[in-house]
Amino acid sequence: MSEHAVELVRVDKHFGTVVAVDTVSLSIRNGEFYSLLGPSGCGKTTTLRLIAGFEMPTAGQVYIDGELQGETPPYRRPVNTVFQNYALFPHMSVFQNVAFGLEMRHVSKEVIQHSVFEVLEMVQLPGMERRRPGQLSGGQQQRVALARALVNHPKVLLLDEPLGALDLKLRKAMQLELKALQERVGITFIYVTHDQEEALTMSDRIAVMNKGQVLQIGTPEEIYERPASRFVADFIGETNFLEGKVAAVRNGEVAVEIGDALLVYAPLERDAVVGDTVVIAVRPEKISLSTTPEDPRALPGVVREVVYVGTDTRYLAELAGQVTVMVREQNLAEETARRLSAGTAVYVCWQPQSARLLRG
Ligand SMILES: Nc1ncnc2c1ncn2[C@@H]1O[C@H](COP(=O)(O)OP(=O)(O)O)[C@@H](O)[C@H]1O
Ligand SMILES: [Mg+2]
Repeated sequence: MSEHAVELVRVDKHFGTVVAVDTVSLSIRNGEFYSLLGPSGCGKTTTLRLIAGFEMPTAGQVYIDGELQGETPPYRRPVNTVFQNYALFPHMSVFQNVAFGLEMRHVSKEVIQHSVFEVLEMVQLPGMERRRPGQLSGGQQQRVALARALVNHPKVLLLDEPLGALDLKLRKAMQLELKALQERVGITFIYVTHDQEEALTMSDRIAVMNKGQVLQIGTPEEIYERPASRFVADFIGETNFLEGKVAAVRNGEVAVEIGDALLVYAPLERDAVVGDTVVIAVRPEKISLSTTPEDPRALPGVVREVVYVGTDTRYLAELAGQVTVMVREQNLAEETARRLSAGTAVYVCWQPQSARLLRG
């Protein structure tokens, strides 16, 4: 068995003049929950279809379980796809829908019976065998689609925005369930989503895509805490971007002047020399506001807006009349939820290691 369930090596896919996939290389390990995350039109579905064999690459190679796929048709690849619209047969029962693939492969009646019941148990749909898809809720239909894909014991399951049609609460429940299911069955999942929170919740690793290219690959923590570019920092979570010029580099730290005599600091995680135009990215929840200057590096500012959003309070703070940053403070107690009002003079502070130095 190959260490990698799926490998893409410098894969391109063009549709006429449209470059849907641009030099994409991925190495997806056995048993990984791997997400392709990016905005609509960035090439996620096309990448999945290249793995499934519904599309052939314009250039580059697709390997599944160490074998070069070349022109191998979809039904000969050890993968199965779950689509957002479920694609169930409406006139067939749940049992028949799930059994369909096995019947096509002339598996014996006893084995089909056993496999279908086992997999319906797995997706938590026992007792629904006789129903038609139209008699099921959206979430239940999605489980049937999953069961139908899992019953073939694929090496890799490809899921294209499978929860996209469900309402938020059900989607969140299904996210946790899918993740637990994946861990139980140990099958490699390649999961396409444009929802950053979904990708963070479920994935072992995430490939962030934009305009056909993979911009960054990492664990949820790596992607969130150490975005490699402004696009990734902006797409995943909320971020303050402070543009400026490098004023000093010393002791593994960079000082950046973001306005007239406003200095902010970040670890020197990439090459930078004095005078470079750079961007410092800081997450709103890493910033603290205080009415006393507790840190020598705290920046004086004024609260401009206060928005109570239940779990936390968002403040917009203006730094020395120049730049505005968003700050999020968790509401640990009701009485501290709006502890600062608009117009309050504050000191704005964050740990230098919470800031990221990005290219300008
Ligand atoms: N069969 C096709 N013919 C022409 N253009 C296509 C085709 N499939 C996808 N595209 C284009 O390729 C790009 C990527 O599409 P897609 O992979 O569906 O993105 P995503 O799934 O990330 O939303 C888009 O610009 C889309 O319009
Ligand atoms: Mg898509």
